[in-house]
Amino acid sequence: MVGATGAVGETLIRVLEERRIPIDRLGVFASHPRSRAARFRGDLLDVAPTSEEALQPYSVVFFAGGEGASERFVPSIVDRGAVVIDNSATFRMREDVPLLIPEINGGVAGREHRIFPVANCTAIILCMALAPLREVAGLRAVRVATYQAVSGAGKAALEAFDRAEGNVVRNVVPHVGAAFDENGESGEERKVREETRKMLALPDLFVSSMCVRVPVRTAHSEAVFFETERETSIEEMAEAFERAPSVVFHRDGIVTPREVEGSDEVHVARLRTEIPYASLDLAQRSRASLARDDKSKSPGRTAGRYFSLWCVGDQLRKGAATNAVQILELLMAKGYVR
Ligand SMILES: NC(=O)c1ccc[n+]([C@@H]2O[C@H](COP(=O)([O-])OP(=O)(O)OC[C@H]3O[C@@H](n4cnc5c(N)ncnc54)[C@H](OP(=O)(O)O)[C@@H]3O)[C@@H](O)[C@H]2O)c1
Repeated sequence: MVGATGAVGETLIRVLEERRIPIDRLGVFASHPRSRAARFRGDLLDVAPTSEEALQPYSVVFFAGGEGASERFVPSIVDRGAVVIDNSATFRMREDVPLLIPEINGGVAGREHRIFPVANCTAIILCMALAPLREVAGLRAVRVATYQAVSGAGKAALEAFDRAEGNVVRNVVPHVGAAFDENGESGEERKVREETRKMLALPDLFVSSMCVRVPVRTAHSEAVFFETERETSIEEMAEAFERAPSVVFHRDGIVTPREVEGSDEVHVARLRTEIPYASLDLAQRSRASLARDDKSKSPGRTAGRYFSLWCVGDQLRKGAATNAVQILELLMAKGYVR
């Protein structure tokens, strides 16, 4: 485990333990050595500095040490035939590299692959909510506003937040990830678009996002506005969500990051049709306003192609660590890793 002392690394070690992955030996690495700084199966392990030699004995190496560590150490590990499961963005968009969410596109993992990146956490949570919709009605366009937790920026950011330091305290910050590009798009927003298209195998899907950091410790929330290819209904989509593995669908009420923190599922709520009020003719408008006045008599509009929903996922778990461990489980089930 490279990056064992970070927000994702610590969660990864916990998830490996929880899911009883049969590990002979777990080595824990970071940039600086620390004694007894990682806890695994009741033992406190010494964290060693990362080096090519130190990683040599391991058949599977998880990376949660940022781009620099992955760029530097992944190539030699892959050259000797070991498997890398990498939380950084370094290899995600390479054409010869699969970008996997086991519940959605596990089939793209092949025996020849050695590098398995874990996609961007916001994109994973979004894809978990979009994949069931793609199955029932196809997808034409997705617009999403995100509400991203502070731990998404790493352990140091979370510790500063807990000390009431940093610009997200009593604030929301519409800039996540790398600097804005010439089109005004942030690094996070580019990842959400590109990685969502790759994971859903919809290279032309319209995806637009506004990624925002909010004063929440853990779990990202997303307000998603989407257009389907074909007409569908709330009921048809609700049933698809109820069938989807690792998705919890809330027919009523709301769900917030505080309830979702620590969970491996992506929660979906507030599924509803978009009623573009301005496009209704006068008669329809007056019927709509009557219906608003007397909700009990309103039949409600439940079908169409324009909808919105709210989804929430723990970005350290399903958005990173759990997805990484599920990739290992998939490789073991396929017999690619013993
Ligand atoms: N946080 C999230 O919600 C989230 C979600 C999905 C993906 N990710 C990705 O996961 C990775 C880790 O993020 P994080 O939030 O866990 O960061 P973090 O809390 O800042 O932890 C970074 C870890 O990496 C180690 N590290 C840094 N540079 C290294 C190097 N050159 N060689 C070896 N180890 C190094 C650090 O060790 P030292 O303390 O010794 O420097 C620390 O253990 C990043 O690529 C991030 O983009 C994060």
